[in-house]
Amino acid sequence: PHTSNWRVWTESDVRKTFNKRKPNAHKGTYGTGLLVAGTDEMPGSALLAALAAMRSGIGKLTVATTPFASAIIAAKVPECTFIHNGLEQIADGKIPRKIKAAAVGPGLTDQVKINKALKQLFEEKIPLILDAGALTKREYPMKTEPIIVTPHPGEFAKMTGKMTADIQKNRLDEASAYAMGNEVIVVLKGRNTVIAFPDGSLHINVTGNAGLAKGGTGDTLTGILLAFISSANDIKSAIANAVYLHGASADYWSETRAETSLLASDVSENLAFVLKAFE
Ligand code: APR
Ligand code: MG
Repeated sequence: PHTSNWRVWTESDVRKTFNKRKPNAHKGTYGTGLLVAGTDEMPGSALLAALAAMRSGIGKLTVATTPFASAIIAAKVPECTFIHNGLEQIADGKIPRKIKAAAVGPGLTDQVKINKALKQLFEEKIPLILDAGALTKREYPMKTEPIIVTPHPGEFAKMTGKMTADIQKNRLDEASAYAMGNEVIVVLKGRNTVIAFPDGSLHINVTGNAGLAKGGTGDTLTGILLAFISSANDIKSAIANAVYLHGASADYWSETRAETSLLASDVSENLAFVLKAFE
């Protein structure tokens, strides 16, 4: 098939749909997010996603991770709270109440525990973001709230059983076929990230640069997505805006600094300058 149902998500789209802060807001207005991420070996993945979520305006953030990782995260992002042995706790069904959305996967590797945790979270009436360790060939349950998968081309190859090179030749068609076939939203990352919806519609992102080709920038995107989705009126624009602004922050950096030196955490810190134009 040749997908024609796509368009570029533009600055003007962001301007029209960006969820501005309301003057009488309180932290509950922007939702509590749950981040299931990080291990002793990869605490940074959870740290980067947590930092990005807080910089993207989430009301409250609970990080389900290891005690060691939480100590590291708390030192850099004191705004969030923790569930110790978080992956195990979620797998046991101990899910905090009142969460608006959850993201699972950065820095996680234990497939048995991840699958148990997902089984529990699939029962919750909340949007779910699956990234990194949570991305594999799987079946998704019928769910009223959206499931969002955020693979890079290599992860998408694993999910589909196809070759990475074939996916890259046909990014629009491949992402769209998977989204429609599995009833999930696909964020197929890499230069010109494709966002494919189960109804067949597609957005293409044109922000971002090769400074983002560096470990951790995907974790940052997951945090931004979690924040925007936790308080979204409209999930489609929340996702497209997260991808757009993640790239725009990298572009803002590279106006005055070297792409070579961009860090994933810089993407979060520069969001403050980029978001200023939209709120
Ligand atoms: N131009 C524009 N954007 C880019 C470019 C580029 N040349 N290269 C990368 N990006 C963007 C992608 O679109 C995506 O948003 O940077 C981000 C990279 O995300 P990931 O590939 O998930 O990178 P990473 O943060 O290292 O992932 C962390 O999860 O995916 C696993 O194997 C990965 O263990 C690693 C972990
Ligand atoms: Mg990644």
